[in-house]
Amino acid sequence: MRFGVLTGGGDCPGLNAVIRGIVRKGVNEYGCAIVGFRDGWRGPLENQYEELTIESVRGILPRGGTILGSSRTNPMKADDGVERVGECMRSLRLDGLIAIGGEDTLGAAKRLNEAGLNVLGVPKTIDNDVGGTDLTFGFDTAVQVATEAIDRLHTTAESHHRNLIVEVMGRHAGWIALWSGIAGGADVILIPERPFDVDEVAALIKRRHGRGRYFSIVVVAEGALPKEGTMATIGEGKTDEFGHVRLGGIGQRLEREIEERTGYETRTTVLGHVQRGGTPTAFDRVLATRFGIAAIDAAARGEWGKMVALRSMKIEVVDLSDALENLRTVPEEEYSTASAFFG
Ligand code: F6P
Repeated sequence: MRFGVLTGGGDCPGLNAVIRGIVRKGVNEYGCAIVGFRDGWRGPLENQYEELTIESVRGILPRGGTILGSSRTNPMKADDGVERVGECMRSLRLDGLIAIGGEDTLGAAKRLNEAGLNVLGVPKTIDNDVGGTDLTFGFDTAVQVATEAIDRLHTTAESHHRNLIVEVMGRHAGWIALWSGIAGGADVILIPERPFDVDEVAALIKRRHGRGRYFSIVVVAEGALPKEGTMATIGEGKTDEFGHVRLGGIGQRLEREIEERTGYETRTTVLGHVQRGGTPTAFDRVLATRFGIAAIDAAARGEWGKMVALRSMKIEVVDLSDALENLRTVPEEEYSTASAFFG
């Protein structure tokens, strides 16, 4: 058997652990050959690949990023994308392809599968918003990074009697903001699922001051939006091949609005790609390894059009279409755990 593997979309800690799991079990137990495509879907579109061996995946378990490279290339946007990916797979005599990615990469995997290609998926994203799975790897590491940052900001905010805003990642879902905010004891958390009113944010901060706490920590997901008509919204920016706007900047805009409304000095820290880089936590290494092993098992069984998933602590194989139907966003009851501590 011969299988291809690729990593697409924004990278995240744990990708190398998945690749290692696929190669180690694939070669040792199934005696198969594994081809690693370069830079997501650009690899099969442009015939960019390398043979992966036990040797080539040694030492990569704790390494962040992806040894294969990644990109936001959308094969469905490329001229003859389906034919080119299919032709590449045939020329390499692949029995199938394992695509490791988030909603965009997996969406392309699903459409290629519907077009007749043998593709299955492994869910990844620090945003933790892929449906069909309880968790994606990379999320735990991102939450850890953001929580450490909030802890550090707390002490300096208190010394200087300032409001400090922390902008974290999270395009459609506020999981990183919510979890790091709960873990770090944030005074306000703003997420994409719940448009916010900046007057209410200012009122919470003032209430804290009234109780003798002269600093506040506001955690905001980069995809959070103000309620219509309450604050100027972000103008259209650059979009990627999947039509997503490049986010960032909500923290700075909030900074001005909060300072104006409360009269207290307010400053912003944008964590950005720091959350995506570096070594994965032990939890992410284990989850990613379990996904890698389950993916090569599913490929060996020929379970195409599927995705490996974590459900109630067990690894399962689900339909790609089930996973992609609905993004996994923050439900109201989980947000209310955090909001009990606001202000
Ligand atoms: O999808 C993960 C993610 O980190 C989002 O939280 C963020 O909006 C996006 O990727 C940023 O992507 P890029 O690094 O390509 O700008």
